[in-house]
Amino acid sequence: MSLRQRLLMNVALVLALSLLIGAFMSYWRAAAKIETELHSAFVVGEQVLEDGVNGLKSSPNPYQKLSGIIEQFNNGRHLRVSLLDMSGARVVQSHLETPDDPAPAWFYKLLGGSPESARVPTPPNIQDYSAFLIEAEPRNEVQEVWEDLANSLFLAAILAGLVSALIYWTVERELKPLDQLRHAIARVAQRDFNLRLVESGPRDLRAVTSGFNHMVGQLEQAEASKTLLEEQLSTVQDEERAELARDLHDEIGPLLFSVGLDAAAVQKALGDSANRDVVERLDSIREAVGLSQRRVLQILGRLRTGTVEDLGLEAAVQRLVEFWTSRHPGLNVRTIIPEGGVSAELDSVVYRIIQESMSNAVRHGDTSVIDAAVALEGDSVRVWVVDDGGGLKSNRSGHGLTGMRERVAARNGTFNIGNRPDGRGTLVEAHFPYLSTTASAPESLRTGTGI
Ligand SMILES: Nc1ncnc2c1ncn2[C@@H]1O[C@H](COP(=O)(O)OP(=O)(O)O)[C@@H](O)[C@H]1O
Ligand SMILES: [Mg+2]
Repeated sequence: MSLRQRLLMNVALVLALSLLIGAFMSYWRAAAKIETELHSAFVVGEQVLEDGVNGLKSSPNPYQKLSGIIEQFNNGRHLRVSLLDMSGARVVQSHLETPDDPAPAWFYKLLGGSPESARVPTPPNIQDYSAFLIEAEPRNEVQEVWEDLANSLFLAAILAGLVSALIYWTVERELKPLDQLRHAIARVAQRDFNLRLVESGPRDLRAVTSGFNHMVGQLEQAEASKTLLEEQLSTVQDEERAELARDLHDEIGPLLFSVGLDAAAVQKALGDSANRDVVERLDSIREAVGLSQRRVLQILGRLRTGTVEDLGLEAAVQRLVEFWTSRHPGLNVRTIIPEGGVSAELDSVVYRIIQESMSNAVRHGDTSVIDAAVALEGDSVRVWVVDDGGGLKSNRSGHGLTGMRERVAARNGTFNIGNRPDGRGTLVEAHFPYLSTTASAPESLRTGTGI
């Protein structure tokens, strides 16, 4: 059950309970009031009746006065007086005022009680009638209470309705930030740190919202620096590994190769005259050189695992796509990369352009779709990366743009970055003259011919 429902239910419960208590208290008060009123009316009425009957005793024509006694009580609200014959049956009775809108029977039963009654015997000079019967009649009193109660209940119901509506409205309004907060937390759980909540509502909730905004801000910063670090790390690592591989291949490789050649030349020059011991040592030198060459090859293999040269452009870009989409689940990245890459010369620069442009799109562009494509167009290779973010945030060139420009220029290409013509995002574009090269140095290393 939500907090809102629980709160409303508790308020409804309290209202219902107070109505119930109110109803009980009204009942006791009403019952006491009816009893008192009827009793005092009865005492007075009985006295009046007795006075009337006493008046009959000395009257010369008492029969004429009988109806007068009854009529005194006509249209009364609380008492009914009847004249009884010798058998005790009512011969005539006073007319009682009846309510227009009587209370229901159950209510009458609840409050009616057992009304008082008394008989006042007729004097001896009246022969045909035995007595007057005087009875208290609670109907009118009960009806009055019923009317009061209905009015009070009506007022209480209006009040309860107003109170509930007011509480509902207040709770609905004041707890709105909680709903926002719930949705926001769900989005943060999906690593969306881009949102901020409006700091409104009651003071304590405002403090929570502002704390939340602060926290998301910190998370966003942490995420941004993490992304930057990851990028730098992966670039620096790739570059260092490639450099190390190049050094190993270009410097250690030829050295080992020449040591092997020299050992073979010395062996040849010595010919058959060579001392057995010298020959053995020369053999072990050549063996050690061969072993070192194989070790260097292994190390080169390990150093190149994961690079564009090693994976190929298509797989390396695919790895990049996985890198970003796994960190930004809402991101959609579409790529068109020629099977087998472009060329050994261009693959790495093409990869760097796509890598940096994707990272810029994610970091600066608030992007949800990135398209990256490489196409051979006539004599040139066209590389372009488009995002659907807000367009270029600034005109400054950081390491990323500068690095791309330099790499492209080194391959006689042209580089361009700008807003998309439709204004919805950024477009990075590079053109290279297409150079079809044969086996590159790393390829020759892998087949073992270079060392
Ligand atoms: N896709 C993009 N969307 C929005 N702004 C971009 C985009 N690419 C680059 N920029 C803007 O160009 C600036 C320079 O980018 P870059 O040279 O890669 O440096 P850095 O990424 O380190 O800030 C960025 O700070 C950013 O303002
Ligand atoms: Mg950048």
